Amino acid sequence: MEYELIAELTREWVDEAGEMLRESLKNTSLKIEEKTNPSDLVTEMDRAIEAFFVEKIQKHFPDHKIFGEEGTYDEINDLSGFIWIIDPIDGTLNYVKQKSNFCSMIALFKDGEGVLSFINDVIHEDVYFGIKGKGVFCNDRRLETVPPHSLNEGLIAISTKMVTNESEKTKEVVQEALGVRLIGSAGLEMIQVLTNRVSAYITNDLSAWDIAQGYMLATELGLTFTRRDGTPINLMEKNPILVANSQAHKEIVSKFVKE
Ligand code: IPD
Ligand code: CA
Ligand code: CA
Ligand code: CA
Repeated sequence: MEYELIAELTREWVDEAGEMLRESLKNTSLKIEEKTNPSDLVTEMDRAIEAFFVEKIQKHFPDHKIFGEEGTYDEINDLSGFIWIIDPIDGTLNYVKQKSNFCSMIALFKDGEGVLSFINDVIHEDVYFGIKGKGVFCNDRRLETVPPHSLNEGLIAISTKMVTNESEKTKEVVQEALGVRLIGSAGLEMIQVLTNRVSAYITNDLSAWDIAQGYMLATELGLTFTRRDGTPINLMEKNPILVANSQAHKEIVSKFVKE
């Protein structure tokens, strides 16, 4: 099936999942469980949305592999073939505590390369998506390429864990920018870079399901998306990421790699 047709189908699933998530905000008795610590939560909706995507993928593409945060459905030993990467709710803590500032993300990779990706900013009903070679869109609007500019001309987003593990290098990078912004959803933070509302986003170690969708969209838009030290992302392991326009990216890497 052509990528555009797969994207059309995926868009239907993403829209339906978004509806389910908006509806779920009315549920006053949502089941919430703790995973590894009190800030690491999973709700019945994280599981339901992932199961919803998995059922659709298995029905339409039974030979594709699936990699989801709330249960790995296939053993992924390498990135060969088609792999769907799902983060049903990115920013679960926000979903529970704020009932906003979360998104739902799904991407399809072929042999390690992103071919289509969706990040749904559920509350604003803004669906960001891209198809390899066809550009990146927000709903029906095509996103403009971000012009290269210096970090000192814009804002920077950092992941919450980088605040608590604040290092001298992080401090130096953050001080260079006009200001720092934190949301607590990697997907929405990556959207901020795609739309040039912040100039860069830097993080601690994130898993493939946190970054794959933004990685595909940023690459398609011509932004630079690497590990924090400027080396390539490896979706088979956790990565501390740096996504930015080419100029800000170069400036930040030089600060992180210097002795
Ligand atoms: C989390 C969010 C958060 C990031 C965490 C992720 P989750 O994802 O993206 O912004 O700082 O490291 O785990 O668990 O809410 O899908
Ligand atoms: Ca989680
Ligand atoms: Ca996530
Ligand atoms: Ca999640």
